[in-house]
Amino acid sequence: MSDPTFETAFTKAFGRAPEGAWAAPGRANLIGEHTDYNDGYVLPFAIQQTTRAAVARRDDGLLRLHSADMAGGVVELRVDDLAPGTTTGWARYPAAVLWTLREAGHPVGGADLHFDSTVPVGGGLSSSAALQVVTALALTELHGVEMSRQDLALLCQRSENVYVGAPVGMMDQTASACCTAGHALHLDVRALAQRQVPFDLAAQGLAMLVVDTHVKHSHAEGAYGERRAGCERAAALLGVPALRDIAFDDLDAALDALPDDGLRRLVRHVVTENRRVEEVIALLDAGRTPEIGPLLTAGHASLRDDFQVSCRELDVVVDTAVAAGALGARMTGGGFGGSAIVLTTADTADAVGAAVAGALARSTSFVTVPGPGAHRLW
Ligand code: GLA
Repeated sequence: MSDPTFETAFTKAFGRAPEGAWAAPGRANLIGEHTDYNDGYVLPFAIQQTTRAAVARRDDGLLRLHSADMAGGVVELRVDDLAPGTTTGWARYPAAVLWTLREAGHPVGGADLHFDSTVPVGGGLSSSAALQVVTALALTELHGVEMSRQDLALLCQRSENVYVGAPVGMMDQTASACCTAGHALHLDVRALAQRQVPFDLAAQGLAMLVVDTHVKHSHAEGAYGERRAGCERAAALLGVPALRDIAFDDLDAALDALPDDGLRRLVRHVVTENRRVEEVIALLDAGRTPEIGPLLTAGHASLRDDFQVSCRELDVVVDTAVAAGALGARMTGGGFGGSAIVLTTADTADAVGAAVAGALARSTSFVTVPGPGAHRLW
């Protein structure tokens, strides 16, 4: 849908009209945390908040980037000069995507891009994936590059791994690119198999709150890489390509075979979390959505105690929500701050939200339903 204010902002930044506009959502993850880089299962859904891009191609080899939400005006880069590690700040995400497209041999050149976003930055809701995916979708569609949504997401993941230098898995970009309204996306990372699982909260008399703690711990990036390296070390010691290959029934034997408690905790989380994804999907398929609550809360306990990626504020949100009558709650995303999701019956959502706000004054929350993935606006 056309939005004159958004188009005017493009024209103000670049002195001409855009050729089109695209949107890509942030995501929340229902269950399946720190499983993607272990070749396992995830079950994210798109939230309503999106990053939008108004775009026009250029033929002079320049990439010009402007954001309504970021200070500093237009960032101008030469397409031929783009190289991993050379761009700083928010502009490295779209620059990374263009570099990765070209590195993969796609005939994509310069462009002017104006962005705005309602995805909270640093809230653990994949604002950077939304920025990457909206850029990739706009540039590929404008240049007539044919690419599946899954390949587009993998390209965005590569751009973050190689150009930005963050060792993330592929869940966030895949969610932003591939989710559909009213569904959670079951992704089997190794098989690259996707299934849209019906997740209609209203039809079941349920509500989903997303609570942003507004906490971002500075050690988060290093700690993510450490968890990932630990999982890879455990898989190597167990003689499997990835922790995905440890079946739930073989968990005790795997734990006995590991030399230290730190590795045992990582493995226990990943193996039980993959199992929880399967259990949640079985309940959703059976129309027994309220019963997923305890699995969400169990997932939080596993992330807190075994994987150790929660923090005090996330624990306060989860404990308060459950004590106030939520069906279940858990941190969502990488952890060390960011957001939690809280599943309630529709008629207790307000009371649970008020209890959480009372317990963590700095938090903000919103009610969400599974929204659409990335799309062209006009
Ligand atoms: C971050 C990463 C994802 C995933 C989650 C944890 O959001 O970007 O790839 O690993 O953490 O589940």
